[in-house]
Amino acid sequence: MPTPSTDTPELLSTPDDLRRWSTASRTAGRSVGMVPTMGALHAGHRALIDRAVADNDRVVVSIFVNPAQFGPTEDFARYPRNMDADLAMLAAAGVHAAFVPTVETMYPAGLVTGLDIAGPLGARLEGASRPGHFNGVALVVTKLLVAGIPDRAYFGQKDAQQCAVVCHLARDLDTGVEIVVCPTVRDTDGLAVSSRNVYLSPEERVQARAIPSSLAEAMGRYEAGERDATALATTVRSHLANAGLDVDYVAVVRADDFTEVEKAAPTNQIVLAARIGNTRLIDVVRLGVDTAPVGRGV
Ligand code: PAJ
Repeated sequence: MPTPSTDTPELLSTPDDLRRWSTASRTAGRSVGMVPTMGALHAGHRALIDRAVADNDRVVVSIFVNPAQFGPTEDFARYPRNMDADLAMLAAAGVHAAFVPTVETMYPAGLVTGLDIAGPLGARLEGASRPGHFNGVALVVTKLLVAGIPDRAYFGQKDAQQCAVVCHLARDLDTGVEIVVCPTVRDTDGLAVSSRNVYLSPEERVQARAIPSSLAEAMGRYEAGERDATALATTVRSHLANAGLDVDYVAVVRADDFTEVEKAAPTNQIVLAARIGNTRLIDVVRLGVDTAPVGRGV
């Protein structure tokens, strides 16, 4: 039976520290769970951490705002950082270790190795809007898995395309790590919890409710028998546009490779990205799997 830590988590600063900690845990016969994050921890992260603590004897949470996954015009510099509150949350959650490396430790001068996510999975939707993003995610996640050698690693369904990328890389690179995908945690009004929600003004936060309600409307149509993917995507798109959001993309995709479908079927996902002012948010529902993210007709 896993025992949550009652102490403050051990602070690990370098990949070697992480490997030593993990090797010692495994040598002692303890299973290791890892939760990669960029910090500014919230209820979505907490759900992944609680699941990891329940499943594993030892849990390490990484906190690293990964420059390799941000584009040159994106929010790397102003991304929220809140280390004291994060470490307090990890202690309260019974996490055993926190891996908090510097950029220089993760990306020392002279690094020449990269990863390339090929095909539509890397190039479409989030990949098209954020060129290089998934290569940066893949590189840091691989480095974390190689140094941390966990039995299981935990990711959130909210970042659906990222989950697909990580599931592929874990298999393609023979990591032997089990990737556990956890459901999206939402606020009471249906908006998916996100570190970037802090960028929203109070008015924009109200406007953002259109995101879950647009997905709820499309789910309602799907459940009423609509299978045409274009019609479902148009429902979401119009709902968002009517609420004044700037739509980046809406698509109905297969979960494993993110290719778009013509006829929607169970386990297909409706994915979207939209801007409210300067804030870009993403969301997703799984058809035939998820319940509607908010009451219908909102
Ligand atoms: P970050 O945005 O901090 O998210 C860390 C993990 O928490 C991801 O797996 C994400 O999908 C999950 N998560 C975020 N919001 C969630 C929500 N509302 N419900 C459930 N899970 C949620 O994603 C990243 O960091 C980075 O790309 C990372 C994987 C750490 C690589 O740098």
